Amino acid sequence: MNSEPGDKKNEAEQIELLKQMVKEAAEAFSKVDKAETIRLVSHLDADGLSSAAVIIKTLIRENRKYCLSIAPQLTEEVAIQLAAESYQYYVFTDLGTGQFGLLRKHLAANGKKVFILDHHHIQGESAAENMVHANPHLAGIESSREISGAGVSYLFSKALSEKNKDLAHIALIGAIGDMQEDNGFSLLNKEILADAKAAGTLKVITGLRLFGVQTKPLHKVLEYSSEFPIPGVTGSESAAIQFIQQLGINPKSGNGWKKLTDLDDGELVRLATGVVLQRINEKSPESIIGPVYILKHEVDGSPLRDAREFATLLNACGRLGKASVGIGACLGDRKCKEEALRTLGDYKQQISGSLMWYEKALKSNGTLSSSQKKSIILENGMVIINAEDNIMPTMIGTLASIVAKSNGFQPGTFVLSLARAPDDFTKISLRLAGEKLVKGEFNLMELLTTIAATVGGQAGGHHEAAGAIIRTEREEEFIAAAKHHLAARRIEEKITAPEAAAVTPVITP
Ligand code: C5P
Ligand code: ZN
Repeated sequence: MNSEPGDKKNEAEQIELLKQMVKEAAEAFSKVDKAETIRLVSHLDADGLSSAAVIIKTLIRENRKYCLSIAPQLTEEVAIQLAAESYQYYVFTDLGTGQFGLLRKHLAANGKKVFILDHHHIQGESAAENMVHANPHLAGIESSREISGAGVSYLFSKALSEKNKDLAHIALIGAIGDMQEDNGFSLLNKEILADAKAAGTLKVITGLRLFGVQTKPLHKVLEYSSEFPIPGVTGSESAAIQFIQQLGINPKSGNGWKKLTDLDDGELVRLATGVVLQRINEKSPESIIGPVYILKHEVDGSPLRDAREFATLLNACGRLGKASVGIGACLGDRKCKEEALRTLGDYKQQISGSLMWYEKALKSNGTLSSSQKKSIILENGMVIINAEDNIMPTMIGTLASIVAKSNGFQPGTFVLSLARAPDDFTKISLRLAGEKLVKGEFNLMELLTTIAATVGGQAGGHHEAAGAIIRTEREEEFIAAAKHHLAARRIEEKITAPEAAAVTPVITP
């Protein structure tokens, strides 16, 4: 039932194929005895926690028992540990595809039944006895914008019971966390959005797509608008206040500052028009206005009300070791929501601490002699950040993403980051600086898989964001291999696209 390589299907056929795959997975799962405890394993990011929340709620509704772990890395050691447990049925969400071989070898080959609900790229094997695998790539859905891990989990849950349609909004939080929303949703995410609207859990409004509108004062939101820069306003608090005043809006309300949610309809229109006009020389001035996803059951003014902010909160919980708090927040637990909000504050501090370390390391780089070991290597269209123990392994991907988006490097520059993880492992992340367009054309997962393989490491991910895990003792070797492979791609670029490279580097995969 999986599509053959080169077998091009149209969109409708692909969707049908995926739904059929998920339906078969749900049918196989329905046959599992309710006395069995389901061993659930999920990923630690927003999509992974959303996936876990969807499945947990589904299992509870089915009167099933479960045991959950959130795995930062599904290494061979973790697979061996899981296999040693007494469970018979395992469900992996938002991971498992990249570790298919490991799960087959240690779990399925020993008679355990494995369900994988994932959306990561297929690497090698994808079907085996005792393994049920649902993944959009198996249906020929190749892009990474159409469905998330939580989306696949949701389709599975909906195939078990239509009652679970009220979990659709959680799947969308996962999709947003995985950067799948781009001025709207596409394909399967669009269908899930329709389910969420019909269930009354989410509404879409058109508004300014600025981060923090539910919680931060309006002038602060404009000052920090880095995703959609407002020339002459972003980056300056006083300019932001002046800008609001010039639009005939009083930035203050009583003794405090106004939030976007405090503006009346007329003020909202003036603000939106003013912001677009101020961005008139940008590539797409109006892109700052678009869909905003409101979680209807969350109270007004809470950061949890905006699905984008909810996704950030889940990332915070997962990356700071509070996965269960994030999942509880998804499932509506009040205490978990309160703790998740506190964790969000800690996460912001971790991010600013990571950035401070990075900037300091960047400065001290210039003072080191060529024989001294540098934490940051800048050469040949790449930046390699080796944070060692200075940054948490769960935060090193976030740092790489921020550095890649920071405009500090030419589009097409590789950003590779490393940090030490427990048990003598080193966690690695790879990103590409520049426009989404450049990123979409380049398969970082394949590239990192090749590099990690030279030191016996395991890699995975997507075209635009890849991660890996290697043994710390092989870090130096890995960096040498990375320099070689990344530079080789740069050389290819110069040969194949010399004119384009001068303006916006176009990289050939
Ligand atoms: O950890 P990071 O954010 O860099 O991960 C980027 C992508 O790579 C994620 O989708 C993650 O699931 C994947 N990954 C993986 N195997 C690893 C590490 C990350 O598949 N060992
Ligand atoms: Zn995901």
